[in-house]
Amino acid sequence: MGAAIGIPLTFLLILAFFITLSPQISAVSYPINVWPKPTAFSWPHPQITLLSPNFKIHFPLNPYLHQAANRYRKQFIEEHYNPLVVPHLNLTSSPPLKSLTITVTDDSAPLTHGVNESYTLTIPSPEQSTTATLTAETVWGAMRGLETLSQLIFGNPSRVACDLYIHDEPLFHHRGVMLDTSRNFYGVSDLQRLIRALSMNKLNVFHWHITDSQSFPLVLPSEPELAGKGAYGEEMKYSPEDVKRVVEFGMRYGVRVVPEIDMPAHTGSWALAYPDIVTCANMMWWPAGVDWTDHLAAEPGTGQLNPLSPNAYKVAKNVIHDVVSMFPDSYYHGGADEIAPNCWITDPEIQAFVAKNGTLSRLLEIFVDSTLRYIISLNRTVVYWEDVLLDASVNVSPSLLPPENVIFQTWNNGPSNTKKLTEAGYRVIVSSADYYYLDCGHGGWVGNDTRYDQPPGTDIGDGGSWCAPFKTWQTIYNYDITYGLNESAANLVLGGEVALWSEQADSTVLDSRIWPRASAMAEALWSGNRDATGRKRYAEATDRLNEWRNRMVTRGIAAEPIQPLWCIRNPGMCNTVHPFLAS
Ligand SMILES: *[C@@H]1O[C@H](CO)[C@@H](O)[C@H](O)[C@H]1NC(C)=O
Ligand SMILES: *[C@@H]1O[C@H](CO)[C@@H](O)[C@H](O)[C@H]1NC(C)=O
Ligand SMILES: *[C@@H]1O[C@H](CO)[C@@H](O)[C@H](O)[C@H]1NC(C)=O
Ligand SMILES: *[C@@H]1O[C@H](CO)[C@@H](O)[C@H](O)[C@H]1NC(C)=O
Ligand SMILES: *[C@@H]1O[C@H](CO)[C@@H](O)[C@H](O)[C@H]1NC(C)=O
Ligand SMILES: *[C@@H]1O[C@H](CO)[C@@H](O)[C@H](O)[C@H]1NC(C)=O
Repeated sequence: MGAAIGIPLTFLLILAFFITLSPQISAVSYPINVWPKPTAFSWPHPQITLLSPNFKIHFPLNPYLHQAANRYRKQFIEEHYNPLVVPHLNLTSSPPLKSLTITVTDDSAPLTHGVNESYTLTIPSPEQSTTATLTAETVWGAMRGLETLSQLIFGNPSRVACDLYIHDEPLFHHRGVMLDTSRNFYGVSDLQRLIRALSMNKLNVFHWHITDSQSFPLVLPSEPELAGKGAYGEEMKYSPEDVKRVVEFGMRYGVRVVPEIDMPAHTGSWALAYPDIVTCANMMWWPAGVDWTDHLAAEPGTGQLNPLSPNAYKVAKNVIHDVVSMFPDSYYHGGADEIAPNCWITDPEIQAFVAKNGTLSRLLEIFVDSTLRYIISLNRTVVYWEDVLLDASVNVSPSLLPPENVIFQTWNNGPSNTKKLTEAGYRVIVSSADYYYLDCGHGGWVGNDTRYDQPPGTDIGDGGSWCAPFKTWQTIYNYDITYGLNESAANLVLGGEVALWSEQADSTVLDSRIWPRASAMAEALWSGNRDATGRKRYAEATDRLNEWRNRMVTRGIAAEPIQPLWCIRNPGMCNTVHPFLAS
């Protein structure tokens, strides 16, 4: 690697001079870190004490807190995390920390959007007391606090940071990861591992993009044929019992599971069971030689529900009904992205509708009006991709999309669509493809594409990946999701989701595609990406994220490395500007 090329020699000499003078300087503010960084962390006299092998947790009666407390107690005692940088702290000679007392103000608050996740954790100096205290408004906040405590424990025998105080609460209520299980399938254990990792990072939403044009893996009691014919195979289906296991697992870890059944576009897989309700199924390359812009979908796997087919509503409503009864969350994601006009136009009935002065936007309105009313009648708040309102050619009138029932998820044009929608009074979840799409930069995947045989940068670039380049953890960390918004608009931003579309991902790469990049968003949305002086803190975050990635790996999450191990073993040496020079 030619990392030093281009840096003037005189600079290197000066750098070497200062490094010789001050070899110990490091950007790490505390010897032990918590990820995401807490809002307020006070540890004026860093010390550590042993954790009693009989450590006890006292907690109020609540089934989910009960399970979490038992789980964490075992982890506290048995994890024995061996840090990359062992904290240079002397062990106190005082008695070990013996217990944790959890107090919760409202132990029946449900896990829902906006639930209070704040907590306060106090670990006393052992001379004063051997009991730590954790207070929270809700059991979900208490779970966040337990996670924090777990990260303050390390070593064998287990030791814990003490004489410290943490008060913590998130900047944004909605902090999630979207995973697509249609392009490629993931087993229930993969989804549970994802939920476990979300919880470690204090992320609270698993947005499950269950179905798409490529496969329909969800078995529904009222419409069993959809998965019967539309799943990739018998082993690649989610039964209602599987869904229950995933949803229940989420509850135990304080993670909401928000289902998405994308419609009316992205429904090619429905045609295997119901060819009559889907237009243009399996017609991607039709007619031969068609321009890319006139294709029938954004990628192979075409098909859209026909809004003029009465049977399409019968099936769609059965699907919605079953999904609502399987997923208790108050949010229901209705999809509604990427209508390809030419797909509908392949249908003779739709051609007649257009000839009689109908428009495709009108057609979408008919569909959205009917299905949206139905979802609302089932007491759900609907999340739609922004396209349904903002698409340049096929879109719905805002009058059909009441802000009190509809939330938009933005993904195009960086921050500008978020601005448009919040200024129109809508709540927004940000998933900007320029920052938050985890699939980008892996090249193209359609076969026999002439672009693969051109020098890099000559066509849409990077071997056909439409959203190249790869979004690095720094890109994600530094993104300000409320950028350019005034206060009232910013208040309508509920939070964000990084998204993994699965054309080129499955369980073999799930962990490394998501982690630790989703951790970068987790911190930015929990406590922000700036230090107390308002400066972006990505430099300081690097060492912390390195350590946190390492701990995730020891916890069975195969997060990818962000640096050579050498960097954290030689603090500051990998930074372009040595901290001593920067000050
Ligand atoms: C740890 O103890 C040693 C020996 O008593 C002392 O020299 C050193 O300063 C202590 N380190 C810290 C971080 O307190
Ligand atoms: C959560 O509860 C804490 C403690 O009562 C309070 O300070 C905070 O404002 C609450 N947060 C929200 C978002 O309601
Ligand atoms: C509707 O949903 C809200 C929020 O999830 C819940 O509090 C309420 O009880 C539900 N109403 C009905 C009639 O189910
Ligand atoms: C088509 O619809 C528009 C808008 O509704 C209307 O103004 C126009 O007169 C209609 N044209 C015909 C030929 O029906
Ligand atoms: C690849 O595309 C070329 C040009 O369209 C075509 O002639 C050829 O048959 C294709 N090859 C395969 C393997 O599909
Ligand atoms: C923010 O901008 C919107 C639209 O431009 C305006 O209606 C609103 O009053 C502004 N809010 C604040 C707090 O300035």
